[in-house]
Amino acid sequence: MKPKNTFTGIEISEIRKMNALAGRDTINLGIGQLPDDLPLSVRDKGLEAFETGMTRYTSNQGSPELRKLIAAYHSGKNGRTYSPDQVIVTNGAEGALWNIYAVYLDRDEEVLIPEIAFSVYQTIAELHGGKAVTYKLKSDFSIDLDDLESRITGKTKFIVINSPNNPTGAVLSAEQVSAVTEIAERRGLYIISDEIYSELYFTEKSPSSPMEYSSRVITVDGISKRAAATGLRIGWTICPEEIARPMIVANQYITTCASSVSQYAAIASLDGSSDRFVERVRLELAEKGLYAWEILNSIRGIKVEKPQGAFYTFPDISAFGTSREVALRILDEVDVLTIPGLAFGERGRNHIRISFAVDFDRLKEALGRMKHLFENWH
Ligand SMILES: Cc1ncc(COP(=O)(O)O)c(C=O)c1O
Repeated sequence: MKPKNTFTGIEISEIRKMNALAGRDTINLGIGQLPDDLPLSVRDKGLEAFETGMTRYTSNQGSPELRKLIAAYHSGKNGRTYSPDQVIVTNGAEGALWNIYAVYLDRDEEVLIPEIAFSVYQTIAELHGGKAVTYKLKSDFSIDLDDLESRITGKTKFIVINSPNNPTGAVLSAEQVSAVTEIAERRGLYIISDEIYSELYFTEKSPSSPMEYSSRVITVDGISKRAAATGLRIGWTICPEEIARPMIVANQYITTCASSVSQYAAIASLDGSSDRFVERVRLELAEKGLYAWEILNSIRGIKVEKPQGAFYTFPDISAFGTSREVALRILDEVDVLTIPGLAFGERGRNHIRISFAVDFDRLKEALGRMKHLFENWH
């Protein structure tokens, strides 16, 4: 049987393909998750869920207790007041993106995404018969606002922003976030703000959210990255209630509800009991990111921006070859896995993505091997 037309050309992501090449001893800098175990309070809450029988369907929208905490979290962060009715708990942030596009992206409608981006924004749009149109980034990975505005057509529905960013490690300034919000307001669009890395920042201030400035925003967030909980599959959207309502209906038909046990465990990632865990991880990542930047920056031919958040750095390695050639050679010769920048769009072809969310000793070893390889490149 032939897959339907919107599925044509859609393949397993380059990240998964590269990860499949990793051997047993490969140092994996290709991975998008923390190496840590779950925060103890999250683990205990999950165990409590099993012990107390929290193993049945929850409401399609998500458990009221968790939604209350999510609403309070975003209220505290953005200086506005949100209600639990504005929140929908989903199967990871990816489930949240699926929900938004399933309900709001009509065939042939367009989503504006950064020219270097997490590939899912484009793939899910295409699966729904929509189209992703890229807007330009400057050399420091900030948004070229004039270019962004010039891409808006009668078919544009959403502008996607992602700060802190996968794969660039950049954090958008408050000025940029407010400027994008102003464009969305003026042109009658909605912003999808992917804030999954928002707790993992190395800037002085926490990253800005467009929700601070406007209600024309659907924020996507979750516990996968902040709580080392990628396998629990808890994400959410928070947006105006009238925008949320049809997505609750969609959530019923897509997934019924997110895992009840995971929802229960997630309570402990938002009730303050894992704040110290997140702070420790954030400071460790800041140190690892700076170390990775210093090593890469010391290699002649490599151009690299200092990471400001998430756990990635995205050096320009074009002096040594294309992104795929370089990533494959690093894997073949020094057994370190990185991701070719092309996995994040055509503009990534001069880059590789390096994740520093690994044990510090292994990171040092991997970067040492890479430095040696680059300095003896022929
Ligand atoms: C920018 C971004 N958004 C969303 C996700 C998906 O998160 P989840 O695992 O919660 O679906 C990822 C995962 O790598 C990501 O990097």
